[in-house]
Amino acid sequence: MQLCLALDMSSREENLALLKELRDFDIWVKVGLRSFIRDGKEFLNEIKAINPNFKIFLDLKLYDIPNTMATATQECIALGVDMLTIHASSGIEGMRAVSEVAKNSSLLIFAVTALTSFEDCTFAPIYNATIASHAKTLALLAQEGGCNGVVCSVLESKEIKSSTSLLTLTPGIRFEETPTQDQKRVATPKGAKEAGADFIVVGRPIYQAQNPKIITEKILEEIK
Ligand code: C5P
Repeated sequence: MQLCLALDMSSREENLALLKELRDFDIWVKVGLRSFIRDGKEFLNEIKAINPNFKIFLDLKLYDIPNTMATATQECIALGVDMLTIHASSGIEGMRAVSEVAKNSSLLIFAVTALTSFEDCTFAPIYNATIASHAKTLALLAQEGGCNGVVCSVLESKEIKSSTSLLTLTPGIRFEETPTQDQKRVATPKGAKEAGADFIVVGRPIYQAQNPKIITEKILEEIK
């Protein structure tokens, strides 16, 4: 299992300072909407300059018509990133178009099933289904669409892994004593490991910690 650090802080300088502190750890680095919109592709080069072995996960969660998703994926391949997210609910044609573009590259495509900030009462009015059943339906669709994996919570990971051959990536990671904030379907790093997740994503529990290095060590110890 791999740890992805979400670089969601309020400035490029803070993100880079944190990464310098964690430069010797074997981690993936997640660049999400906030950082990418603000700091652009130059930020990706700055991450690699700190440690060229950092793998970069560009969490853009594409949701658009197939041609727009496929051409955006081409641009992500040109950026040299290692992983990209799209929404499974954008549909089978979009997922196929993206997978077709990515298949001759090393870019991993992960499809988001149900955001970890959803709970059944906020999910049902949009999808008219429970999270557990719909996440599995979307995972089966993502497999048919040629994706490498899905984004789900730890709570769905086991079921998805037993009914597909997909990798799972699970945000919503919290220690028992850390606030859940906007995340609803949460689990500990140890819980994620027990559920067989392949990647965990952790942001605030690391970058808001008094000592991010100690927390990172603790997480890596729990998932090794
Ligand atoms: O700070 P926290 O650990 O909650 O950060 C989780 C990260 O994972 C954020 O960058 C968020 O955008 C991302 N994410 C998520 N749930 C998903 C997909 C991505 O929380 N389903």
